[in-house]
Amino acid sequence: MRIRWLLLILAPSALGAAEEFPILTPKPGPAPLIRGPAVYGARPGRPFIYRIPTTGERPIRFSAQGLPASIRLDAGKGILSGTTPPAAGEYTVKFTAENRHGKASRNFRLIVGEKLALTPPMGWNHWYTHYDRITDQLFRQAADAMESSGMADFGYSFVSIDDCWMTRADSPDPKLNLPPRDASGAIRPNGYFPDMKALTDYIHSKGLKAGIYTSPGPLTCARYCGSYRHEEIDAKTFAAWGFDLLKYDLCTYRRAVNPQSVEEHRKPYELMGKILKDLNRDIQFNLCQYGLAEVWKWAPEVDGHSWRTTGDLGLEKDTRLPGFYSIGFRNAALWEYAKPGHWNDPDYILIGVIGNAREQSAPPKRTTLTADEQYSYMSMWSLMAAPLFYSGDMSRLDEFTLNVLCNGEVIDVNQDPLGKQARIIRKTEDEFVLAKPLDDGSVAVGLFNLSEQPRRISATWVELNLQGRKTVRDLWRQQDAGEANGEVSAEVARHGVAFLRLR
Ligand code: GLA
Repeated sequence: MRIRWLLLILAPSALGAAEEFPILTPKPGPAPLIRGPAVYGARPGRPFIYRIPTTGERPIRFSAQGLPASIRLDAGKGILSGTTPPAAGEYTVKFTAENRHGKASRNFRLIVGEKLALTPPMGWNHWYTHYDRITDQLFRQAADAMESSGMADFGYSFVSIDDCWMTRADSPDPKLNLPPRDASGAIRPNGYFPDMKALTDYIHSKGLKAGIYTSPGPLTCARYCGSYRHEEIDAKTFAAWGFDLLKYDLCTYRRAVNPQSVEEHRKPYELMGKILKDLNRDIQFNLCQYGLAEVWKWAPEVDGHSWRTTGDLGLEKDTRLPGFYSIGFRNAALWEYAKPGHWNDPDYILIGVIGNAREQSAPPKRTTLTADEQYSYMSMWSLMAAPLFYSGDMSRLDEFTLNVLCNGEVIDVNQDPLGKQARIIRKTEDEFVLAKPLDDGSVAVGLFNLSEQPRRISATWVELNLQGRKTVRDLWRQQDAGEANGEVSAEVARHGVAFLRLR
């Protein structure tokens, strides 16, 4: 007999106006807890940097057993650096972290081989807050904030520069209107970036990673210098500067080349993918061509680690629902294409204080998304194994925003080593249900209420392909919420979510 099991999750909006932005997640305790991915890919003989994401009161003393000899640990900071071993191989490293409140250990599988991004990349990108208002200083401050806010302790690691770091020929600003390349043809940053190598050194000194951006076209989307016919020298320059990720944004390539066939769309990405692969540095490759030519079908073949599946989230029109939903629905439909090393990218997380993509000169403002919508956004991105890049103002992170961005159990679903994207269980006017199988045999389920009223949403074991009794974990509250057999169901607030893990 199927036992109908009812899980009661209080709709946050039922808690009253003073609780409009309820913090659902308990704060991490003072004892150390090691977080971050359980599996990590790097190529042989390349520079290596990794900050062991760990919450708990500082100082913490770190140790690591089983590290390859070419990688050393800074025991006070918990930062690994050095070079990966010259040959492919697997290392099971045991991290330990200890402070005056306790001690924790966790295994970390370092897979030295051809694959990078075995779990989705996490970090911050400047675009949706700062647009063309960027300087070297801003990225140093973002790296500082990633550390001081605690985001780095949950695994956020990339500090990524988007468009507008290069020169711009049609600008009246003398710091932008400079020769785009030096005598050897190497690209030059504009006058707001005096020394790119010094900037990545600064980011790396915190154990974090640095991302950069260019276009295969002559100009970027914001009309700065692009890499057209300079692909190799630019990639080499980015590696020499010390960047760890490249976002490659189609933009004016469309005007210059007018690609039509899939082959023509593939070409610029294939070229850059090959160049990156031959570099003596691991650079994650993020394809940004807005989902044209069914990029998800060929991006892994051109060594893309992630690919944007849609247009810009910040420009997406709200329907009855905020824009992230329609982007999310389209990205969710591509679940079969995601796998370790290769991820669908539905664009950044736009919460907290954020700029306006349609009116880029307007001062950044607090998001108009409700608390429930923000929980839904982060849950959906986590279930879709999406790259988790925050793109709000790092200098104005508030407690609620950090609570949404930094829930270790929610992030664990995103970073799960099995690397499967959630499958769509149901999509109607009122309900959206996603289920993501996890490495330990459990299943993460998101019950999203798309309607304007609180609503009971359920998913059956037949739909979820489950058998037997399961323990239900409420991931936002990090609480066990009883057992279920045959069906799980929850009362979900308007535009809210019940995000559950069934063990
Ligand atoms: C495009 C991309 C955005 C951003 C801007 C920069 O619109 O899709 O993510 O990089 O260009 O100009």
